[in-house]
Amino acid sequence: MSWRFKCINCGSNYEISEIIYRCRKCNDLLEVEFDFAEMTEKIWKNEWKRRPISVWKYKELFPVSDESKIITLKEGGTNLYECGNLAEKLKLRVLHVKNEGENPTGSFKDRGMTVGVTKAFEFGIKTVICASTGNTSASLAAYAAKAKLQCIVLIPSGKIAQGKLAQAMVYGARVVQVRGNFDQALKTVLTLSERHKEAYLLNSINPFRVEGQKSLAYEICEQLNEPPDTVIVPVGNAGNISAIWKGFTEFYKLGLIDKLPRMIGVQAEGSAPIAQAVKNGKGTIVPINEPETVATAIRIGFPVSWKKAIKAIMESGGKAETVTDTEILEAQKLLARSEGLFVEPASASSIAGLRKLLEAGKMDRDEVVVCVTTGHGLKDPDSAVRISEKPSEVDAEIGSVERLLGFS
Ligand code: F0G
Repeated sequence: MSWRFKCINCGSNYEISEIIYRCRKCNDLLEVEFDFAEMTEKIWKNEWKRRPISVWKYKELFPVSDESKIITLKEGGTNLYECGNLAEKLKLRVLHVKNEGENPTGSFKDRGMTVGVTKAFEFGIKTVICASTGNTSASLAAYAAKAKLQCIVLIPSGKIAQGKLAQAMVYGARVVQVRGNFDQALKTVLTLSERHKEAYLLNSINPFRVEGQKSLAYEICEQLNEPPDTVIVPVGNAGNISAIWKGFTEFYKLGLIDKLPRMIGVQAEGSAPIAQAVKNGKGTIVPINEPETVATAIRIGFPVSWKKAIKAIMESGGKAETVTDTEILEAQKLLARSEGLFVEPASASSIAGLRKLLEAGKMDRDEVVVCVTTGHGLKDPDSAVRISEKPSEVDAEIGSVERLLGFS
């Protein structure tokens, strides 16, 4: 199987055995490519049927040379829930939620890290590094522990949710709090990893991360037996929407599906450079210097994969939407209370975006929609407690409890 990195701008090719994050000629993003002619639909289709759903079910479609070196925590295979209660409330025919909080560290990042850390291990790397709004650091720390690698994570000081910080710390990462935002932390680790090759960068600028994350699209196709009409994804640094679109297009080119869904990207209003560009019909973003949102996971002003994300949205005939913090938090409660699914605020932005588009008449109510919820609700317990009704307190005595609850 011939694999290569290809620059998304100038088309330059590089060997995948090279440690490289950006095109040496034009500095743009790279992506992994393989030869479709070499992958025959028949072989994979038959073989796949026998394997349980998971990221590594599709191992032939990842650029991993030695199966015995795979670093896995059994990621992927997350449930696709048919959300009848919520669909009824939103007056939508069919709504599914792909709940990525069910991954080993509670977010979709694990799909990317299993491939990325496997490559680090294959390369004989000793130290892995990332910048993060929280989930990437939690995930990288866990996979590094499993692979016996040192892990360094840079996080915006005081700005990440407690659950994620707890994870990175307990998995044993070296946690560095940067006085600045995510965009500044990312710029720093990128320079650091280019200067010091021994520190292997595992943000989504690393094309192997995107490779793992494309499995989300494969799974949706299998779980529904065909692609949905529309897939709605929360967007931050924009790796995930790009990865999911790559997954759908690969299944399409392999003849495994015969249509492609529309991709809708949702950003928080205070951190929405991609959504603004798409809405204004622009092919390029205007970065935001001081991004702000309650959905700290997607508090990003200069998304590294903006070009890939805009391409995914445009090529698929999709769109982009912005949602306010209030809309995000309402959607978080609505999903929890209609379907029993507790997701973190950034994840709920897909639901908030869907609701907004439906209310504005910008979506057809007959569509089959999949909303991706990207991270578990317990990642950010403080926010959940803040937005919910406060518990009542009462003496540990039957009469008081009866009175409080209105039992006579
Ligand atoms: N949802 C959650 C829960 C996230 O943690 C992230 C990104 C996104 C959505 C957006 O995904 O960046 O691929 O567009 N979190 C990163 C992190 C930035 O550091 O954990 P994206």
